[in-house]
Amino acid sequence: MSFLSETLSRVKPSPTIAVTTLAAELKAAGKDVIGLGAGEPDFDTPDHIKAAGVAAIKAGKTKYTAPDGIPELKAAICAKFERENGLSYAPQQVSVGTGGKQILYNALMATLNPGDEVVIPAPYWVSYPDMVLLAGGTPVIAPATLENSFKLTPEQLEAAITPKTKWLIFNSPSNPTGAGYSRVELKALTEVLLRHPHVWVMTDDMYEHLAYDGFEFCTPAQVEPALYARTLTCNGVSKAYAMTGWRIGYAAGPVELIAAMRKIQSQSTSNPCSISQWAAVEALNGPQEFLAANNAVFQRRRDLVVSMLSAIDGITCPVPEGAFYVYPSIAGLIGTTTPSGTVIDSDETFSRALLEDTGVAVVFGAAFGLSPNFRVSYATSDDALKAACERIQAFCAKLT
Ligand SMILES: Cc1ncc(COP(=O)(O)O)c(C=O)c1O
Repeated sequence: MSFLSETLSRVKPSPTIAVTTLAAELKAAGKDVIGLGAGEPDFDTPDHIKAAGVAAIKAGKTKYTAPDGIPELKAAICAKFERENGLSYAPQQVSVGTGGKQILYNALMATLNPGDEVVIPAPYWVSYPDMVLLAGGTPVIAPATLENSFKLTPEQLEAAITPKTKWLIFNSPSNPTGAGYSRVELKALTEVLLRHPHVWVMTDDMYEHLAYDGFEFCTPAQVEPALYARTLTCNGVSKAYAMTGWRIGYAAGPVELIAAMRKIQSQSTSNPCSISQWAAVEALNGPQEFLAANNAVFQRRRDLVVSMLSAIDGITCPVPEGAFYVYPSIAGLIGTTTPSGTVIDSDETFSRALLEDTGVAVVFGAAFGLSPNFRVSYATSDDALKAACERIQAFCAKLT
């Protein structure tokens, strides 16, 4: 009998690690590797936010805090929801955790019983299904299609819901596709949810501020106020504020759920880093102008990558509304052969051959639950992106 828990045996190691490990090995062996796998902005944390962290250290704000966040940060979060999303939350409806990841995990741990189902639209962020499994629930994958720009339709959502469904996890703009739901598209999904009062919504709005071409972000409780009482609105400072290492995420929702999440956090990690909390207060309350400047850079890079990948025979690359990912389909390349004789039979084979032959590291679509695709993160320099796309073009041109 294994010493390790049965729960753990149901969880798979991150499928992205295989690619990352191979990329690191090739780099160590002297190969010229361009990594397009990163899930974080290449920008530095803005200076005014760093300064708030330094000031917190100097002021001795280095002790335990309330387990789910200091009042100042909760107030800043309430103000943010009011200002940006038209949502009213009281401080006792807010929970702050060690990154968006802990927030989502706390919520699942606080609510799932064995047999409870969680609907996860695919392509999905790699952690959702495994977090559900770790919390003892059952992930139910609802696949979207390339034809619908990787967005779930009301019919697909309806088909995934059963009497055992507890949550829908909703993520827009999405990791890995960058797809963002318009108000009309989201409204159509919320209408389905209104017909199923036992289903709660966990919305992961982590990429809210990373949106292009004037895309108007909206979140379920805002689009359908009748869902407010069964929605957990999750967000964080990691992506938009280039603060991935500071580890601050937050959520707002019904008081009872927030209290249950606090109980879990108080018996596991306790408070998120006190210094990071003060930096997050500055991120949310301070100047926001740099967001538009960063987005202009991201939009330019997105357009560069989409145009260079779309020029390849056999690749289809929808233009995403947000985040910093594109998710091209390689359906037209399946069955082709590389010059060294590898048959491209899956997106995993494609990504591995691409890395070995050209040094470009991407993440294969099977990791995100929808194939045959690959994910490109364009959170890297224009020069690196251009060189990587040229290598992908050359690699694909040699497939026969
Ligand atoms: C969709 C999505 N949600 C949540 C997270 C987690 O964010 P954090 O770094 O704040 O834990 C990520 C990070 O990659 C993400 O892509």
